[in-house]
Amino acid sequence: MAETILSIKDLQVNYGGIEAVKGISFDVPQGSIVTLIGANGAGKSSTLRTVAGLVKPSSGSIRFMGEEITGKGPTDIVKKGITLVPEGRRIFADLSVLENLKIGAYLRKDDIREDLNWVYSLFPRLKERAWQAGGTLSGGEQQMLAVGRALMSRPKLMMMDEPSLGLAPIVVRDIFNIIREINKRGVTILLIEQNANMALQTADFGYVLETGRISLSGSGSALLTNEAVKKAYLGE
Ligand SMILES: Nc1ncnc2c1ncn2[C@@H]1O[C@H](COP(=O)(O)OP(=O)(O)OP(=O)(O)O)[C@@H](O)[C@H]1O
Ligand SMILES: [Mg+2]
Repeated sequence: MAETILSIKDLQVNYGGIEAVKGISFDVPQGSIVTLIGANGAGKSSTLRTVAGLVKPSSGSIRFMGEEITGKGPTDIVKKGITLVPEGRRIFADLSVLENLKIGAYLRKDDIREDLNWVYSLFPRLKERAWQAGGTLSGGEQQMLAVGRALMSRPKLMMMDEPSLGLAPIVVRDIFNIIREINKRGVTILLIEQNANMALQTADFGYVLETGRISLSGSGSALLTNEAVKKAYLGE
């Protein structure tokens, strides 16, 4: 049994009067790929943004490697080893690919060359385009850059918010292969996806979020064959 790296208990997130996350609990085992699937507005991004310290929860607890991190700010969270590849990528459009990657490592004082080489080996395209402005990359290349930038912080846990959104099927396949490769290098992955099919094929474990609550959970393969999941999320 792998140790739990991230443990979420009764997490609630409100925006003013809107209850976006209504008391969810789940665990992410060290070294695993875990996916959260759910319809638009279910509270997926809110959950990740709260773990990343960008949103303060109204109640509940977030523990990372046994330590309570609830309410810590984003800089502290990155220092602990958690990174977020945000929805919509958020590339710095006017900065070069290399500058964008270096921003991912801004909290580190050690040598980043090894990490840069790793990112370039995962995404040779980024090496070719090191001097190109981030904003002029294609959608798929921007997603590679967002993942590469996140890796530059040397995360223990990488959270990804819809990495496949808007990408062509062949690029989606590449991105999922790379997620597996990053995971094999020891990075735990918490993945949000609308593409439930790919996500559940890739993940060890999945949770289904429905209007702020977890309605189902199970291994990726069990959820893939679950009738309710098939009907609601796999378009069958
Ligand atoms: N900053 C905010 N202020 C007010 N309401 C918000 C804010 N961010 C999210 N919400 C609301 O919280 C709910 C959950 O949103 P969230 O972005 O977490 O959903 P999601 O599951 O990621 O959806 P999607 O699949 O469309 O990205 C939605 O009803 C949304 O309108
Ligand atoms: Mg979202």
